[in-house]
Amino acid sequence: MKTLSATALAHPNIAFIKYWGNRDSALRLPVNGSISMNLEGLFTRTTVSFQPSLGLDELIINGHEVMGKGLTRVSAILELVRQAAGMESKAEVVSDNNFPTGAGIASSAAAFAALALAATRAAGLEWSESQISRLARLGSGSASRSVPSGFVEWKMGTGDDDSIAVSITPPDHWALADCVAVVASGPKSTGSTEGHALAPTSPLQAARVADAPRRLDVCRKAILARDFEALSAMIELDSDLMHAVMMTSHPALFYWQPATLTVTQAVREWRKGGLEVAYTIDAGANVHVICQQAAAGQVTELLAALPGVLSVLTATVGGPARLI
Ligand code: DP6
Repeated sequence: MKTLSATALAHPNIAFIKYWGNRDSALRLPVNGSISMNLEGLFTRTTVSFQPSLGLDELIINGHEVMGKGLTRVSAILELVRQAAGMESKAEVVSDNNFPTGAGIASSAAAFAALALAATRAAGLEWSESQISRLARLGSGSASRSVPSGFVEWKMGTGDDDSIAVSITPPDHWALADCVAVVASGPKSTGSTEGHALAPTSPLQAARVADAPRRLDVCRKAILARDFEALSAMIELDSDLMHAVMMTSHPALFYWQPATLTVTQAVREWRKGGLEVAYTIDAGANVHVICQQAAAGQVTELLAALPGVLSVLTATVGGPARLI
């Protein structure tokens, strides 16, 4: 008998140009394209097994059974896979992260990328990277970007079929690192899904979105040319614009902690002193400090010595979601 089981691994990613706001929230069709880098060293590993004996889908994350909203979100993806494969069996999903869940390291990106790949393969479907990226997007928008390799662009597209992510260039193109200054380790107060829905309430969102094609263009070219100066200016601007939108939404979303500012100010100072570093912050208080891989040891030490920094996670540039 054919085993209806598959295991996939995917990396989280850090957005250089952020996804913030949807034009269709059910389909997770974004109001702007985004660009990110996959994070090697951090990963989610997920096994999906379709079992005719199960009455309901089951989800186990880091050894704990998950019910409620988390399970509903995973079941919705499994349901799309069942429909495509013409099968009815419920599935057991067992997922493990090697990094803290819900601490601004976007665990949902790696989780839904690994789920989309493992579930389709377990169901016997041999989908293209674009089809897997689309399915991952329906689970979590940023997950679309954890499917292709290296430096990745999620095109906003015209609809469900072409709002997918593609690789700009593979990991070995540019030896960058992300040193994540962890300043808060608990789960965030407002998740991204609720946050996206608030984006249109900020008077600044329209300006952020209108200028997005320019930022995407500069960022894509900076990656292709390995131009750190151009990249750093653009990713800090893009992160600041997103947080300005968050802070001016109604109700306001304020993710920063005092230590967040300590880190961003230090990064600016270090750059003035000649070190190639740039900060970017997702929907949380932790600061991702992008630097050349050769400087990652030094940057990690500098970050760890700042007041309020609890720990530093270091990642390099990661490959695509893959079956293992
Ligand atoms: C700030 O992809 O987590 O990290 O689609 O609701 O799961 P959902 O949102 P999610 O949003 C990511 C927001 C961000 C920016 C980014 O990664 O582009």
